[in-house]
Amino acid sequence: MVLSTGSNKIKTAVFISGRGSNLNSLIKFSKLKNSPITIDMIISNNPKSKGLEYGKIHKIKKKVFDFKNTLSEKKILKELEKNNINLICLAGFMKILSLNFIKNFKGKILNIHPSLLPKYKGLNTHEKAIKNKDKYSGCTVHFVNSRLDSGKIINQKKVKINKFDTPKTLAKKILIQEHKLYPEAITKILSL
Ligand code: GAR
Repeated sequence: MVLSTGSNKIKTAVFISGRGSNLNSLIKFSKLKNSPITIDMIISNNPKSKGLEYGKIHKIKKKVFDFKNTLSEKKILKELEKNNINLICLAGFMKILSLNFIKNFKGKILNIHPSLLPKYKGLNTHEKAIKNKDKYSGCTVHFVNSRLDSGKIINQKKVKINKFDTPKTLAKKILIQEHKLYPEAITKILSL
C-alpha cells in the first residue's frame, strides 16, 4: 500500500457534491480514538452542497471549486498539497476527475458507489437493479482510476431487494450500509 500511517494519522480530504451523509459518517469515524485518519478538508464542486455545513459544525476547512478546467484542478492540487492531504475520499462527488489529477494522487483516491460493482456503473443504480429484478444490490468502495467506477474494489456490502422496494426505499437501505462500509474500507487499506 502506498499509504503509510506510522504513528501519524492520515490527513484526508472528502470531496462532495450534495447532502454529505457519507461525509458525516467519515467525520464520526475520524473522531474515534483509534481512527487512522483525520478529516482536514471538505471540497465541493457545488456551493449549495448541504454537506458543506458539516465543515462549519466540525470546524473543518471547506473549499468550493468548479472543477471545470485544468486551471481549477491545479488550484485544488495546490490546496491539497498545502494541507498535506494524503488521502482523498469521494463521497457523493458527481464530477469526473481528470487523468492528470488522478495521477497526482495515484492509489490514494477512493470512491463509494451505490451498487455491487462491476454491476451498474454510473447513475440510477437502484432503478437498474429493481428493473432487472435483481435479488440483491449494495454498495462498493473502490480505488479511483481513469475509468468511471472501474478501479480495484476494496470492499462491498450486499442488501436484499424485496418486492416492495422502490428506488427510494432501496437507496435508503443501501445508504445505511454505505455509512459502515466506507470506514471499514479505509481501515482495510491502511492495514494492508
Ligand atoms: C451515496 O449513495 C453515494 O454512494 C452516491 O451518492 C450518494 C451520496 O449521498 N454516489 C454516487 O452515486 C457516485 N457515483 P451523501 O451525499 O449523503 O453521501
